[in-house]
Amino acid sequence: MTDESFLAILDLARFAPSVHNTQPWSVQKTDQNEIILTLDPAYVLRDGDPSGRQTIISLGIFSQAVCLAAAEFGYGTSVHFENQIVKISFKKSSSSPKVSEDITALQKRCSDRSIYAKVPIKESVTESIENTSKAHGIHISVVTEPDALATIARLTSQGIHLALSNPRFRNELSQYLREPWSSKKRGIAIKSLYLPLPLAVLQPVLIRLGWGLKREADLEKRRWLSASAVVVISADGDMPPFWFEVGRTYLRVSLEIEKAGLSQATSAAIVEASTFHEDIEALLGTSHRIQAILRVGKGHAKRHYSPRIDPQDLLKAT
Ligand SMILES: Cc1cc2nc3c(=O)[nH]c(=O)nc-3n(C[C@H](O)[C@H](O)[C@H](O)COP(=O)(O)O)c2cc1C
Repeated sequence: MTDESFLAILDLARFAPSVHNTQPWSVQKTDQNEIILTLDPAYVLRDGDPSGRQTIISLGIFSQAVCLAAAEFGYGTSVHFENQIVKISFKKSSSSPKVSEDITALQKRCSDRSIYAKVPIKESVTESIENTSKAHGIHISVVTEPDALATIARLTSQGIHLALSNPRFRNELSQYLREPWSSKKRGIAIKSLYLPLPLAVLQPVLIRLGWGLKREADLEKRRWLSASAVVVISADGDMPPFWFEVGRTYLRVSLEIEKAGLSQATSAAIVEASTFHEDIEALLGTSHRIQAILRVGKGHAKRHYSPRIDPQDLLKAT
């Protein structure tokens, strides 16, 4: 593969979402047809992701985005994940699947943290999300039942309140909140929080100081109560190889939601907080470990995008 094609692939893959938009990976081209993705310790969350789960899910998402972008340029891929390192090899293929629609969705999708309008979720949309190709041991379910959505909203709100009660979590999060005038390439655009302007501008300071925690938790509850559906991704196990495959599935799900013309947002709160995931597992009658949830509905007409690193800056010197 030429350096030009390689950069063109990265230029698409960089749209991959990640926890706090940390984009914690660096990329190394090891030979003509292989790359290695590693985690950059400078951008791995210390307090926001103590188990490392959200980071590995994010790495899985980025790997899947690389595979998708490679397919767009006519390359088949094989992916190997071990010890937090991903090896992706490329092979020119005449039978690459058509992925243009997915690529458009990857560039268009974003996290919309507004209060959604309720919309009916068509059966065909539920099917396309649940039938998204997934690795062995990974499961997807689309929840629309109002009582279940209310429980998920309540636990998400409690989970974020718990997380925000930790000053170190708040301090780290506040460093990843981006004001509109920021030129930094990592972090969450505060406009994507859809707060009234004065509150949005003050948000990094308020979060750091822990002011308005109850308001923040109540708002999160209203956000999740407004969902028309919640997509739950779960796994047979709770180890990094599962987390990585959850990430790959997460991106496929995210793109299906976008292609269906719906909005989406994620919360790691239920997954990470205490034993909250067990309540949802009981609610869904599953023994699989919940790894990611996305709320779905009709969000705001105006979208706000969080920044991304330039492809050249993703590259690690060989
Ligand atoms: C693994 C993972 C966990 C996330 N957890 C949260 C979360 O708890 N709360 C939240 O508001 N957004 C969460 N997000 C959304 C990210 O902040 C968002 O994807 C990132 O800022 C990039 O923005 P975009 O999705 O608009 O492209 C998460 C995303 C990923 C991939």
